[in-house]
Amino acid sequence: MNIGIIGAGMIGGTLTQRFAQLGHDVAVANSRGPETLADLARETRAQAVTVRQAARGKDVVVITIPLGNVAQLPAGLLDELAPDAAVIDTNNYYPERDGKIAEIEDGMPESRWVERQLNHAVVKAFNNIQARHLREKGRPQGNDGRIALPVAGDEPEKKAVVMQLIDQLGFDPVDAGGIDQSWRQQPGTPCYIADFEREALIKALAAASPVRRPAWRAKN
Ligand SMILES: NC(=O)c1ccc[n+]([C@@H]2O[C@H](COP(=O)([O-])OP(=O)(O)OC[C@H]3O[C@@H](n4cnc5c(N)ncnc54)[C@H](OP(=O)(O)O)[C@@H]3O)[C@@H](O)[C@H]2O)c1
Repeated sequence: MNIGIIGAGMIGGTLTQRFAQLGHDVAVANSRGPETLADLARETRAQAVTVRQAARGKDVVVITIPLGNVAQLPAGLLDELAPDAAVIDTNNYYPERDGKIAEIEDGMPESRWVERQLNHAVVKAFNNIQARHLREKGRPQGNDGRIALPVAGDEPEKKAVVMQLIDQLGFDPVDAGGIDQSWRQQPGTPCYIADFEREALIKALAAASPVRRPAWRAKN
């Protein structure tokens, strides 16, 4: 697949490496420009590109930057994506990093807020696993201890594409419902960085509360 990754940090760098290892065509961008990604490009054989190039003509685009910065991405960035292209949102709201986002504080699921900034539907995935575990803990199907990852989105075909990629990376994809349910995998919920296997993840998603815990709210 042609995969564009916007954000080349802990998660973006990991997905760049792992998707490239799997044989996908990966283009990766950061905020400072492709010349600053020469090392990552050399190590992974991914192409270092601009943000707009990372979103052009791709089957899958991953947005993996500090959530608050999603609002600063170029206007119309995803307007020309093919209708069947999937956009993955890995992002979490960290008020101390992202600043207070009133809609999220008032209960809007983080990924719904991201969709509104992007003017495009997203599939929420990879937000509840630590980057190092994403890099190191993938296992073939059927292995004991295979970590399960929740996938939320409103478009079943796109969710299916993302679930297939998760399986290729060595994790069990679990359908976590639509974006209205995606608070079940947000920071502070039982499944957040918990590395559950499938059955435990399904229980954790069911046990989640929509009430945002104080530790995950803006202080003022
Ligand atoms: N780290 C984890 O274990 C983890 C796990 C799950 C989910 N997440 C979430 O996933 C997202 C990414 O996390 P991370 O830890 O990978 O972040 P990170 O290591 O801080 O890296 C952030 C990346 O985003 C790029 N970036 C920032 N603003 C940008 C913009 N406006 N346009 C293009 N690129 C931009 C940065 O590029 P420059 O360096 O050029 O500015 C950098 O490459 C966050 O929302 C985070 O909460 C993180």
